[in-house]
Amino acid sequence: MIAGINSTLPAWSQTAKAEDSSQLRAQVSDDSAISSLTTYAQQINAPQSTGAKTAQGPQFDDQTFAALQSFAQSMGSDKPASLKGQTKLADADNLMDWLSQPKGAPAPEAKPAKGPAAKGKHTGAPVEAHFVGDKVCSTCHSGQIAEFQKTLMGRISLTQPGKFACENCHGPGSAHVKAGGGRGVGGIMSFEADDPRTSEEKNSVCLACHQRGDRTNWAGSVHEERGLACVNCHTIMQAVSRKNQLKTAFEPDTCFQCHKDRQAQMYRSSHMPLREGKIVCSDCHNPHGSFTEALLKKDSINDTCYTCHAEKRGPFLFEHEPVRENCDNCHDPHGSINEYSLKLSRPRLCFECHGFGHGQATGPGSVFTMGRQCQNCHTAIHGSNSPAGGALQR
Ligand code: HEC
Ligand code: HEC
Ligand code: HEC
Ligand code: HEC
Ligand code: HEC
Ligand code: HEC
Ligand code: HEC
Ligand code: HEC
Ligand code: HEC
Ligand code: HEC
Repeated sequence: MIAGINSTLPAWSQTAKAEDSSQLRAQVSDDSAISSLTTYAQQINAPQSTGAKTAQGPQFDDQTFAALQSFAQSMGSDKPASLKGQTKLADADNLMDWLSQPKGAPAPEAKPAKGPAAKGKHTGAPVEAHFVGDKVCSTCHSGQIAEFQKTLMGRISLTQPGKFACENCHGPGSAHVKAGGGRGVGGIMSFEADDPRTSEEKNSVCLACHQRGDRTNWAGSVHEERGLACVNCHTIMQAVSRKNQLKTAFEPDTCFQCHKDRQAQMYRSSHMPLREGKIVCSDCHNPHGSFTEALLKKDSINDTCYTCHAEKRGPFLFEHEPVRENCDNCHDPHGSINEYSLKLSRPRLCFECHGFGHGQATGPGSVFTMGRQCQNCHTAIHGSNSPAGGALQR
């Protein structure tokens, strides 16, 4: 599948190849390069004396880094090696295994860690690369790996090795490693917004395992069509939210990144207890897509409301038609400035539909519009079960 990602991008790979041939012709995968990598491999396989080797620059062991860097610079081949030519390496579990029995196979091409790409900007385009295995990544990224192992997927990776291998998600990393690592280097998939790959390609990595269940309707959903990536809402390498790997600890904040208008509504005087943390957006919406309008989880607006306000479902002896039809006739579920999240203040709300008889907009002081107004008498606004409640008055 990862190979599929790269092959869907011939344009990018070609740019990368062109750069490579003009910029780094000379280097050959001679024996000295292999042996220096082997030395390096032995170094990092040996029990580590320095505890923290993270990717955070300065903490990284200078000596091993220098060894790897010099290897990276001496490597890179004139001729782009196809994946086919490297079956032996691909068959090995990881680069470490491969190195322990050097075969002098042609070295794959690499993108050097020079130029603007090394300065922390994502300029990397997917380049041809192959899999090197987690051990290699862990030499520089032990910090991130420790964090990852606190997440649900990371915990599973401890008991099911290989299932969450770094390169399953990030794509083959040999070019990234050879270039000495860095942001946007070696075509490693960063998932960030400035990664040159499209959202669709980024998402396909996740959907390979997560296409079913809640994501059945992802394809064609509003969020998919507007180009959202899974990582707009999810973070993977660290556990930020208590569950669901969301970007923010509090789910609505994830949505408020983009839905500022809804955020504003939540802070109106009248609202369901979202900001108090009792319910969340996904109690009503499935952000991954649904069969219903507005990404609602249930078949209709009313069915959505009934999941919590079951008493409003009835059945009633005397129904109030607009309630049956749609709770949103009177309420705004995201909050409003009127009591009970009503769309309009009363009695104006009632006048939207009732313009005759005593339900008319009579002048101020009318017996029908004083105090609690219409509902002084018509109390059972959602429906009545009293035999004498025909006018919803009890
Ligand atoms: C399930 C897919 C997945 C796996 C497995 C995975 N990653 Fe990631 N990684 C991501 C995503 C998605 C991001 C983008 C940032 C985020 O969402 O946290 C990322 C970001 C990163 C970053 C950049 C972090 C930063 O600060 O910008 C590094 C480094 C990284 N991963 C290394 C690794 C290593 C090393 C492994 C192997 C243990 C690994 N990843 C395994 C999905 C994955
Ligand atoms: C030689 C050390 C080294 C090795 C080995 C290495 N990386 Fe990196 N990697 C880095 C450095 C340095 C960065 C930049 C980190 C930063 O700026 O915080 C980086 C960044 C990344 C990023 C973020 C890229 C971006 O564009 O933001 C990912 C993802 C990543 N590495 C994955 C991997 C994976 C997967 C492996 C194993 C195949 C691996 N790395 C092996 C040094 C390394
Ligand atoms: C190799 C298969 C695989 C890949 C690839 C993968 N996941 Fe997962 N993911 C799992 C498994 C297994 C779980 C454990 C829970 C489960 O069974 O649903 C999980 C759990 C999750 C959870 C729930 C975490 C929780 O705490 O409840 C989220 C969110 C998630 N993955 C998002 C993603 C995203 C986003 C990506 C792409 C960057 C991704 N996954 C890639 C297999 C995968
Ligand atoms: C608009 C924000 C958003 C986007 C985009 C998004 N998610 Fe989610 N995801 C959520 C929220 C919120 C939850 C928790 C509530 C829920 O389960 O609906 C969640 C839960 C999950 C879970 C764990 C619960 C479950 O359904 O198994 C997985 C796995 C998951 N998402 C995968 C993905 C994948 C894969 C993608 C990309 C195709 C993706 N998500 C895109 C917001 C999002
Ligand atoms: C990265 C930005 C982004 C994030 C984060 C995001 N959305 Fe959206 N959402 C959009 C865009 C863009 C649209 C389309 C708006 C439009 O067409 O007017 C949209 C539309 C919607 C719609 C309307 C669907 C329809 O059929 O009209 C709902 C409901 C929605 N989002 C819910 C959520 C929820 C819940 C979350 C948090 C879990 C969330 N969104 C997070 C960008 C985002
Ligand atoms: C109590 C249920 C409920 C909750 C909680 C809820 N919504 Fe909604 N949302 C709805 C209903 C019902 C609709 C469709 C009717 C409408 O447009 O008002 C909707 C519509 C939307 C729309 C589309 C509006 C349009 O004009 O098409 C967006 C965007 C949205 N919700 C975002 C959110 C976000 C973000 C949250 C969390 C902060 C959230 N919703 C929480 C019930 C809810
Ligand atoms: C996930 C559960 C849940 C769902 C779904 C839900 N509500 Fe609520 N709603 C609540 C809770 C909890 C309260 C607060 C009750 C309290 O404070 O006694 C509430 C309160 C209300 C209130 C009173 C608000 C106020 O200011 O006093 C109204 C009106 C309301 N909901 C309408 C709706 C409508 C309309 C829908 C469907 C679009 C809906 N609810 C769906 C949980 C939910
Ligand atoms: C005709 C307008 C109207 C419609 C339609 C409507 N309501 Fe209401 N609702 C009101 C009014 C007015 C109040 C103010 C309190 C009262 O009089 O009971 C209210 C109050 C509420 C309350 C808070 C007080 C209570 O009774 O618990 C909830 C919850 C509620 N409505 C849920 C719903 C649900 C769910 C639906 C859809 C099935 C719905 N409403 C449809 C007018 C309406
Ligand atoms: C969205 C439109 C709408 C709104 C808003 C609305 N109603 Fe109604 N109401 C109706 C309809 C439709 C009927 C059924 C009329 C009929 O059967 O002739 C009705 C019927 C009634 C009846 C008579 C029931 C009967 O069977 O004779 C009363 C009383 C009533 N509404 C009170 C109110 C009050 C009080 C409000 C304001 C809180 C209100 N309505 C808001 C649409 C609405
Ligand atoms: C003082 C009590 C009272 C108040 C206040 C009141 N009503 Fe009524 N209303 C009634 C009674 C009693 C009936 C039943 C009349 C009948 O059976 O002939 C009724 C009947 C209705 C009906 C049924 C159709 C009709 O006209 O006979 C509607 C609609 C209605 N009221 C709407 C409203 C609206 C809207 C308001 C607020 C402006 C309101 N009412 C205020 C007592 C009241």
